[in-house]
Amino acid sequence: MNSKNRQKQIVEMFDNIAPTYDKTNRLLSMGIDISWRKSACDETYKRYKKDIDLIVDVACGTGDMMGYWKKQANKINRKIGKLVGVDPSCEMIKVAKKKFVQFEFIIGDAGTIPLKDKSADILSISYGIRNVIERKDAFKEFARVLKTGGYLVILEFTKDDKKGFFFKIKEFYINKLLPKIGGFISKNRDAYEYLPNSIDGFLTAKMIEKELDDTGFSTEFVKSFSMNISTLIIAKKR
Ligand SMILES: C[S@@+](CC[C@H](N)C(=O)[O-])C[C@H]1O[C@@H](n2cnc3c(N)ncnc32)[C@H](O)[C@@H]1O
Repeated sequence: MNSKNRQKQIVEMFDNIAPTYDKTNRLLSMGIDISWRKSACDETYKRYKKDIDLIVDVACGTGDMMGYWKKQANKINRKIGKLVGVDPSCEMIKVAKKKFVQFEFIIGDAGTIPLKDKSADILSISYGIRNVIERKDAFKEFARVLKTGGYLVILEFTKDDKKGFFFKIKEFYINKLLPKIGGFISKNRDAYEYLPNSIDGFLTAKMIEKELDDTGFSTEFVKSFSMNISTLIIAKKR
């Protein structure tokens, strides 16, 4: 299958699971993802001290990350000019629009973001980059849209290069339990078989850092959460 068709298939899969996405997500992560998301926002706000005209959340899905950008900004009295979510899945965007009427949403791909050069202060992508087939093109596009000195914030399930007891527990959960529970709730077993496979076929945090460096970013902060299940990478556009 060529990369265009593979990408189309992935987006269709998200269209299918959109109505149950939030429920399944909260249950599978047992709510832990909330602290990972908040931490991503707090660590970025600590670093970016300028006025924020625009935050773009790519692969925004049902919009949760955008909600946390706003919530964490309110706590420290930071103003955000505009929050825009971009995602190619019409069904995910439909759910997001219902939840967050105050934000702007655009149906679009990570590789062709319909925003001006150097317009964004912060660009985030949470649990999305793994699904972008033409990842290097997307990184170039992120560099185009971000202002110089702006921040790229990636949250992702990265491949683990460590082995051991906790690694085995994590493997069991992700490979065996998660597809069963996710498949049961969403009635789409394939989508939740795709998750462990896509994590396994993905990069380590170090590999992502290298690709970012090659596309004009300097990584400033990397943190692994909960037995290395999730990784946060914050990189500055040079
Ligand atoms: C696992 S969901 C994550 C959604 C949301 N960011 C979150 O944290 O819950 C992955 C999202 O990536 C989107 N996606 C898939 N391929 C994409 C692409 N090429 N460009 C942008 N988004 C893409 C899907 O439509 C889906 O909404």
